[in-house]
Amino acid sequence: RLGELGEELGYKVYAVGGFIRDLLLRRPNLDIDIVVEGDGITFAKAFAERAGIRARCHKKFNTAVLIFDDNLKVDVATARLEYYQYPAALPVVQFGSLKMDLYRRDFTINTLALALNPDEFGQLIDFFGGQRDIKEKAIRVLHNLSFVEDPTRILRAIRFEQRFGFRVGKQTASLIRHAVKIGLIERLGGQRLFHEIQHILMEEDPVPAIRRMAEFGVLGVICPSVCFDAKAEETLLQIKEVLSWYELSFLDEPLESWWVYFLGLLSRLPHKDLQKVMERLDLAQNMRERIAWTFQRVNQVLGDFLRLPHQRPSAIYRALQPFRPEEILFMMATTQREEVRRAISHYFHRYRHVQPEIRGRDLKEMGIPPGPVYAKILNRILDARLNGEVRSREEEAALAR
Ligand code: CTP
Repeated sequence: RLGELGEELGYKVYAVGGFIRDLLLRRPNLDIDIVVEGDGITFAKAFAERAGIRARCHKKFNTAVLIFDDNLKVDVATARLEYYQYPAALPVVQFGSLKMDLYRRDFTINTLALALNPDEFGQLIDFFGGQRDIKEKAIRVLHNLSFVEDPTRILRAIRFEQRFGFRVGKQTASLIRHAVKIGLIERLGGQRLFHEIQHILMEEDPVPAIRRMAEFGVLGVICPSVCFDAKAEETLLQIKEVLSWYELSFLDEPLESWWVYFLGLLSRLPHKDLQKVMERLDLAQNMRERIAWTFQRVNQVLGDFLRLPHQRPSAIYRALQPFRPEEILFMMATTQREEVRRAISHYFHRYRHVQPEIRGRDLKEMGIPPGPVYAKILNRILDARLNGEVRSREEEAALAR
């Protein structure tokens, strides 16, 4: 239908980029990018009206997003048609600018396009050897200045390489090494750098990508003391294991697993270097405080567990309750002690959702005057519940009195 509308308006319409790449790799992808040779905004508005959906337009960039109900979203970009007036009798020649649009992209595997207009529907357009590189499982840039144009591509190359099980091509790898050597990563703003690292950590298995970042010297230029030695690798692998355990046990609970890896990466930094890295990545103040708090509190809690390995459920609950699940999983991955892991597992499985049956309202009905004492009583009941000392509402009430 996109192609039919294009035809009516006299525009050529193509699906491009990651969507086509993933189509050839048979990987699901619901982010469709299309390029319109013509006016993308006119196209998007007309399409949205006809399909009864919303279009968000960005006039400044000549782009739009078509928002379908079901998570499906189509980004519309404009590739301007260019007219060249030739001398003498030659007619005005109209150059499709799809090729220019694709030439600006990062890697050959992202430059494939699929024609959508009815008379050429389904035709695969491959100006830069994208199909060959998908077959050869190679990540290759289109030209030598690609990383100079946009140094985030260094991290994107690593991310795609690991995600697809591809390999950065020889020439591209040496361009990356050169780019790192001449300090292109240092030129990146903190937020962009953080965003790219975050994307890597959000991949299914970020550990090999982190190893690759170290190999290309990327980790070293972010912070000399963030390294990927055997100990660091072991921590990250432990994190991976703990995350799969958690995800299998609690399928429906949302988890920001990238955060656990991020903590893992930062965890062995001396205080001063940690501050430097957080500065470099331009992390928000509250995030910096949370990270520093986490490391300090995790150490405290692990220390307490070591001194008193067999704590009562209420003590385990009180120790772990201030943490987010991601932080507890980080703790679980860094400890070697089986009894600590068991305590954490019990916390997730049994303790964290326990609540007294009695509420403040019930205490009032029992004639206890409201005040700070309520929190104390309810906490005492919760502890008793956790420790199995009370098992019913009646027993809770008895304890309240
Ligand atoms: N792109 C680029 N340089 C960048 C970022 C993006 O050339 N620094 C291009 C890529 O060719 C990509 C397109 O813009 O195909 C869209 O970017 P993005 O949505 O980030 O890429 P996807 O390939 O869809 O990646 P993902 O699967 O991770 O969403």
